[in-house]
Amino acid sequence: MNMRRDPLNIKATGSEFPLILGRDVSGVVMECGLNVSYFKPGDEVWAAIPPWKQGSLAEFVVLSGNEVSHKPKALSHTQAAAIPYVAATVWSAVVNTGGLNKDNCTGKRILIIGASGGIGTFAIQLLKAWDSHVTVTCSQNAEQLVRGFGADHVVDYRAGDVEAKLKTLEKFDLILDNVGGETEKWALSFLKPWSGAKYVTLVTPFLLNTDRLGVADGMLQTGVTIGTKALRHLCKGVHYRWGFFAPSGPALDEVRELVDAGKIRPVVEQQFSFPEVPQAFEKVEKGHARGKTVISIAEVSE
Ligand SMILES: NC(=O)c1ccc[n+]([C@@H]2O[C@H](COP(=O)([O-])OP(=O)(O)OC[C@H]3O[C@@H](n4cnc5c(N)ncnc54)[C@H](OP(=O)(O)O)[C@@H]3O)[C@@H](O)[C@H]2O)c1
Repeated sequence: MNMRRDPLNIKATGSEFPLILGRDVSGVVMECGLNVSYFKPGDEVWAAIPPWKQGSLAEFVVLSGNEVSHKPKALSHTQAAAIPYVAATVWSAVVNTGGLNKDNCTGKRILIIGASGGIGTFAIQLLKAWDSHVTVTCSQNAEQLVRGFGADHVVDYRAGDVEAKLKTLEKFDLILDNVGGETEKWALSFLKPWSGAKYVTLVTPFLLNTDRLGVADGMLQTGVTIGTKALRHLCKGVHYRWGFFAPSGPALDEVRELVDAGKIRPVVEQQFSFPEVPQAFEKVEKGHARGKTVISIAEVSE
């Protein structure tokens, strides 16, 4: 099997199945390719696996060197496994797409729509570590959780009209939308116009379009949709963007420093053993996440 060009072995079998799910991994390097010098067998590493490769619900995974990073020393593997996918996604959305970084965030006003799940709890911590002012929307019963990560202002989206409540606040420099749908209709009006302010949504029709129309037509449809929306909002002085998960060892290196400095904590809501994978997925399907669900593949002494 050519792991590099066809990691799912689709050419040989004509099918993506059996498909191994799971994007986050924390474990130990078993072997390295000849050109890998940054890692060696025995190193403790973490990574977020690209969607075109087999996933992490397995004893072994094969990754490229640039997708892997040394895991934070302060965390157990179980704790570390709660971070890479949300970290890589938030990094891609906020840094690569949103243009924020540790040097330009001080005093910036950020709104995170849907802040109590995996993405939101990581995003609050990253943006607070960079000294932003963070407003979030979540259910009332998640207020204590998000405040614990430093959220400055919390809006309960279940108690009354969330749009009306946000309208009363000072406008924002960046909005990270983890909810999508109706939110897109009003959220962009809460950005500071003509200031470079951006709305970045993680809820996009990209996968829906490719599933429905096939890869070529789906991508064409996606391109037309994003182009039309971006242009419409640009005329009003704000930027409309889509954010996507992008695997990145270097981004995880930076996150590791924040974790080791005590500025970012893992949020493990519940842990399951490997035989309990079906129950873990049932739990995730029910929604109302408060952080991450982690599956422990191998018994390790932590
Ligand atoms: N584009 C990409 O590459 C990419 C990558 C990763 C994730 N995503 C997307 O990003 C979104 C968030 O991911 P996640 O992993 O954080 O999901 P999650 O862990 O399931 O968390 C979702 C959170 O949103 C809350 N919520 C639901 N409806 C809400 C609303 N109307 N307003 C405010 N909060 C609401 C839920 O709690 P309550 O229901 O109890 O309020 C839950 O805590 C998902 O739609 C996911 O598909 C996209």
